[in-house]
Amino acid sequence: MAWFKVDILDDSKASYIQKVKAGSQTICLVKENGNLYALSSKCPHAGADLTQGWCEQGKLICPYHRYSYYLQTGKGSTGQNDYVNTYKTKVRTDGIYVEVLSFWERVSQAFK
Ligand code: FES
Repeated sequence: MAWFKVDILDDSKASYIQKVKAGSQTICLVKENGNLYALSSKCPHAGADLTQGWCEQGKLICPYHRYSYYLQTGKGSTGQNDYVNTYKTKVRTDGIYVEVLSFWERVSQAFK
C-alpha cells in the first residue's frame, strides 16, 4: 500500500468534486458536508467521468445515465449490481493523502 499526496488546494469548508491523481489511479475526490471521500473516477456502467457528476443524499450521481454510488462504500444503488472502488483519505497539515492498494492487497482485504 502507498499513500499519495494529491494535488488539490482544500482551504475552505466548501463542498467540491475534483479529479486528482494518486499514484497510477485517477480519483474522484469528493468533499461533501465537511467529509472527504475518494472513489474511482470512472463509472462502471459505461465509463463516464464521475467527477462531472454531483452529490445527492450521500451518493455520487453519474452525469450520463444517473446511476448512483454511495460515497462511503462505493456500492451502487439498489438494482444496479455494481460498485466503484473507494480509497482511504488522510488530511495532514501539508495536504490531503489518498491510499492506493495494489490489486492483490484489495483481493486480500475482500476476504478479511
Ligand atoms: S456511464 Fe455512468 S450511469 Fe451510465
